[in-house]
Amino acid sequence: MGINGETPTTQESFMDTYKQILERLARERRVSHSEMVRLVEGANEERLAWASGLAREIRSEHFGNGVFLRALMEISNCCRGGCYYCGLRAENDHLRRYTLSTEEIVGVCREGYGLGFRSFVLQSGEVLGRAEEVAEVVRRVKSEMPEVAVTLSLGEQSAEVYELWRRAGADRYLLRHESATRSHYEALHPKRMSFEGRQECLSTLRHLGYQVGAGFMVGSPYQGAEELAREVEYVGEWQPEMVGIGPFIPQSHTPFADFKRGSVELTLLMVALTRIVLPKALIPATTALASADERGTLRGLGAGANVVMPNLTPVEVRADYAIYDGKKISREESAEGLDLLCEMLQEGGYQPLLTRGDHPDFRID
Ligand code: 5AD
Repeated sequence: MGINGETPTTQESFMDTYKQILERLARERRVSHSEMVRLVEGANEERLAWASGLAREIRSEHFGNGVFLRALMEISNCCRGGCYYCGLRAENDHLRRYTLSTEEIVGVCREGYGLGFRSFVLQSGEVLGRAEEVAEVVRRVKSEMPEVAVTLSLGEQSAEVYELWRRAGADRYLLRHESATRSHYEALHPKRMSFEGRQECLSTLRHLGYQVGAGFMVGSPYQGAEELAREVEYVGEWQPEMVGIGPFIPQSHTPFADFKRGSVELTLLMVALTRIVLPKALIPATTALASADERGTLRGLGAGANVVMPNLTPVEVRADYAIYDGKKISREESAEGLDLLCEMLQEGGYQPLLTRGDHPDFRID
């Protein structure tokens, strides 16, 4: 009997088993494309357990049992984008739009600082024309709280704007590549958004010295084993410092409202494979994972993630940052729930860390 209960064909019995391919991936950081497809398409509990075990081992070589906590602030839900999966898309008029002022954002950062956070993520939909304001926020935060790391996640911008923000002191930038396969990227986005444009932004960010975060959803419409295999290959080639991976969760009032949710187990397998090819990466157990599964955060860490991002968005607007339905915004997912989160992490055998949490190879200027 084969590993998955299937009877191996003569040809298969001469091929590596799933476990052997995984172990080779861990040793050499790459396998052939057909082997990668095999890794992603044959997910079952046993295989997920093998991949996760390897991923945890690799993570602990570089990070021990430490888990970095970053305070997430969703500074505006306005967006010019049209991503078919996202509730913030410009065409969605079922959403109350908000934008926090410079004072409010700096105030939230002070609050985070008081709670002990030394790593802040400022996120919003894609908005043009606020570049100077954002630069001012970054300057103020960095001058008042010099030891903190500031991560921006504000979508696609011009090279000049990315440079302005970098000069203002921003350390990192999150811009999920969304899909490493052009045809799949195009199936998830309207024509006005381009695969090349996305890739160019990522290159510009890297060139400017940001620690760069890429990422993708799992189980999004039109994504099959080919596309999933490409994701692991892409992050292995591009080597982002951070990778955000979460299940696709349908959101009402979007073109993808009626598609089904991505599988939590497949998401965990993708987290594990990503850890195996990127031993030193900062990989969050995402809010989407926590929203899709009651134990999503711990399961994500169990698959090799090493970052958690509690939400510090002011509670009055938090529910309006509705990327997908059923997003978790309280308890362990919130900064007010920091004690709960730390308790949960410690019970799981992890050490919560409030430090900057830079990528181990990254030189700080
Ligand atoms: N389900 C899961 N993740 C989503 N994102 C956007 N919409 C959804 C959804 N419906 C992810 C995208 C985006 C990030 C901010 O959230 O990958 O880059």
